[in-house]
Amino acid sequence: TYFDQLSRLNVLFITQYQVKELRWVNYFLTDAQTRSEGWKAFDAIQLERQEQAERSVLISCHSKTNEKKFLKYLSIHGDIKNSFFYESYGTYAVVEFANQESIASLHEAVNLPVVSNESVVPFKSRLLSLRSLGAAVVPNSQTGPKCKPQATIPLTELIQRLSKEESIDHQVTSLMKAYQVTEENTRLRFLVCSLLKDIAAAYFPECNVRPFGSSVNGFGKLGCDLDMFLDLDGISGRNVAMPKAGLVLEYQMKRSNSERAVTQSILSVVGECVDRFGPGCVGVQKILNARCPLVRFSHQPSNFQCDLTANNRVAMKTSELLYLYGCLDGRVRGLVFAVRCWARVHSVTSSIPGAWISNFSLTVMVLFYLQRRATPLIPTLDHLRSLAGPADKSVIEGNDCTFVSDLSKIQPQDNTETLEQLLCGFFHFYSTFPFARKSINIRKGKEQTKPEVVPLHIQNPFEVSLNVSKNVNAAQLERFVALCQEGAWQLEQSATLTRGTGHAPSPWGLAALLVPAAGTPGIKGRKKRKREPASERIKSLLESLKNKI
Ligand code: CTP
Ligand code: MG
Repeated sequence: TYFDQLSRLNVLFITQYQVKELRWVNYFLTDAQTRSEGWKAFDAIQLERQEQAERSVLISCHSKTNEKKFLKYLSIHGDIKNSFFYESYGTYAVVEFANQESIASLHEAVNLPVVSNESVVPFKSRLLSLRSLGAAVVPNSQTGPKCKPQATIPLTELIQRLSKEESIDHQVTSLMKAYQVTEENTRLRFLVCSLLKDIAAAYFPECNVRPFGSSVNGFGKLGCDLDMFLDLDGISGRNVAMPKAGLVLEYQMKRSNSERAVTQSILSVVGECVDRFGPGCVGVQKILNARCPLVRFSHQPSNFQCDLTANNRVAMKTSELLYLYGCLDGRVRGLVFAVRCWARVHSVTSSIPGAWISNFSLTVMVLFYLQRRATPLIPTLDHLRSLAGPADKSVIEGNDCTFVSDLSKIQPQDNTETLEQLLCGFFHFYSTFPFARKSINIRKGKEQTKPEVVPLHIQNPFEVSLNVSKNVNAAQLERFVALCQEGAWQLEQSATLTRGTGHAPSPWGLAALLVPAAGTPGIKGRKKRKREPASERIKSLLESLKNKI
């Protein structure tokens, strides 16, 4: 074929990319449908997506690649089920084959490139590069393939878009449409996990790498980080009692005195492997002394900031719980989305770790508020636990993580409030919340007496002795409260103002809340922070790393 003559696929060894500073903000996803739209259980989605990712490859190509010819060329290896292009540091294609055998066929055909003045590590990954001979790759193609966006639209454009909507409820829907993780972005997230699994499999052949956090919990925004969990529980013959006779694997005898020490050594070698052999993985940092040890790196072809953890099953359960809450009623995701976006604009949250409120804490705060409505919008975690069947039982490291996994077993709630009322109510609720005395607790759905002296106490839903917001200092909490007061006031103003009409109406409602206003307590707070001595900033950064996850 035409491509046979002109192109060849090479296994790509990315050495040429430069580490760029990546800025990350957070949010949403498409699988998480609510009960009215047809629903799938969390585990079923995970399995389906993982299997899809196993049959997929990531190909770096020319920006003017002729899509039709490209796909025809690849189809020598088997039927293609799905594909899309996107732009990151160059143009990339995600190609999903109908059958796993196509990957083997493709690998048979690819060459390990010889690079002048450099030696390459002979590792065949599923990150490939389509090499072409000059401009001949683009006959009749001026435009190149249509690329699917993997990043959010600029804030100014979002504000304009929202200002044209006729109600706050419509504004929230519009915000979700513009910012939430897309179908393609979700595919890419699972594919990157699958690529990482291939690398980790060099040490642990039956391992699995699964996404958790906002990539899968229904609250992910385009551009949010990719939290990954190296799962070794599926390794056959694991967790069985030592037999009295017969063969046992010698490597099982390699022991350490704590689970944590084992996790650290596993992540240390896998991190090393990612650093040395992981195509496209740059800026690898091993943060092994954190409460939850992790390896952090950038995956450049996908533009994802990745956090790889191991032995982190509770966080996986937390992701499932958030997913379930998000599916109970469309307003849950809508409100979380609006609040997270508002918080990011006003620097309540940040892409860098520090003494501020995290997106995760904020999400739990929204859930708690929804449980505290006069007519609750969502049930308590204790209630979800009471609905669990035998198959839902889950105890992880002594923590009871049991809750119902089937949405149809949960009675819909009678709350009929609009998103406008709920958003306004959120700001009022936290403007007057007794943070000094009370702890936020979604298990009980009721504030509890604070067990320790900290500015903000949010009980971890499963590891109940942990405070999710341990990192938050008093100044950051004060800013949050001040901004909530301002938000409530702004929304009330919006209700009394006549809305602008015409081509470019002035921001109102949610759009007005997203305007980063100069002189707000948020901005003042930021300036004050900047004057902190460097030692304080470093201390708070170190603290936050310690508390990470
Ligand atoms: N997590 C936790 N306790 C914390 C922080 C995190 O249990 N103190 C778990 C949660 O399940 C969370 C996941 O780790 O969803 C990932 O953490 P993080 O990336 O900080 O939060 P996300 O929910 O992914 O939000 P973001 O979009 O900001 O990444
Ligand atoms: Mg995350």
